[in-house]
Amino acid sequence: MEGQRPYYYMTELKPVTQSQATPVPKVPTLPDAQTVTEVKHYTDRLFSFKCTRPASLRFRSGEFVMIGLMGDPDPKTGKQKPLLRAYSIASPSWDEELEFYSIKVQDGPLTSKLQHIQPGDEVILRPKPVGTLVHDALLPGKRIWFFATGTGFAPFSSLLREPQTYQDYDEVVITHTCRTVGELTYGAEIIEGLKTDELLNEVIGDGFWKKIKYYPTTTREDSPKMGRITDLMRSGEAFEDLGVAPINPEHDRAMVCGNLAFNLEIKDMLEGYGLEEGANSDPKTYVVEKAFLD
Ligand code: A2P
Repeated sequence: MEGQRPYYYMTELKPVTQSQATPVPKVPTLPDAQTVTEVKHYTDRLFSFKCTRPASLRFRSGEFVMIGLMGDPDPKTGKQKPLLRAYSIASPSWDEELEFYSIKVQDGPLTSKLQHIQPGDEVILRPKPVGTLVHDALLPGKRIWFFATGTGFAPFSSLLREPQTYQDYDEVVITHTCRTVGELTYGAEIIEGLKTDELLNEVIGDGFWKKIKYYPTTTREDSPKMGRITDLMRSGEAFEDLGVAPINPEHDRAMVCGNLAFNLEIKDMLEGYGLEEGANSDPKTYVVEKAFLD
């Protein structure tokens, strides 16, 4: 719990002699600590990691939690405070472990440190999942669009492995716009992995992944499809490439997760197509979450 004091504070007012004193642990256990089990680096700006999942943690695919590390000791008081940021859970709700996908900001207070974690290290995880990129916030439809830029792919990594996505929709379109080809790797691997995931093919139905239309684009490095998704939709090129009709509020639903400028621009576009922003308490036809950067 935040603000909870280590046990040795509770005894500090007791008059104890040196020999009776409880030894003070040199490295106090982190509050809400989870153990890192795997770390993968994709580019000098991106990495993913997995950690243990608290037995009591229940979440809906697409939600986020606060995670972080202990900050440096205050130079005056020597006290350490947790340094936390909101991170979308990239693993699906049924998974035993938790996965996260992160940017590395070299002078970012958290990710400058977080990028160096190794298996066996501890991270802090506040087990209170929340978020709007959940199926409950959308009305029923036929086709769902997942729009991501950069690390905004994370909640869709969870939702693409969530059986409900395929129960609720006939077609799943995932667009991912990144600066470079290397920044697409994490998402491309998740999607490719669905084809050979025996458990998912058994649970959801053999070949469920054929419902997915994946549309990766880059803006600062050559790739088969260049350009921002917003421009490609405006010109009609994206719909032509995908072989689907432009977005229609009757059948299409959308979830958005990317940088702020992208979120604002695509929100406007979706409203132009006639979609309306929903929430957990008021499901409608699209929802937005911002990608949380350091
Ligand atoms: P661009 O290279 O043209 O800025 P970042 O890594 O900075 O978060 O950006 C991720 C991707 O999102 C980049 O390819 C970037 O394109 C793209 N992007 C940034 N702003 C917008 C926007 N308003 N609409 C669409 N894509 C955007």
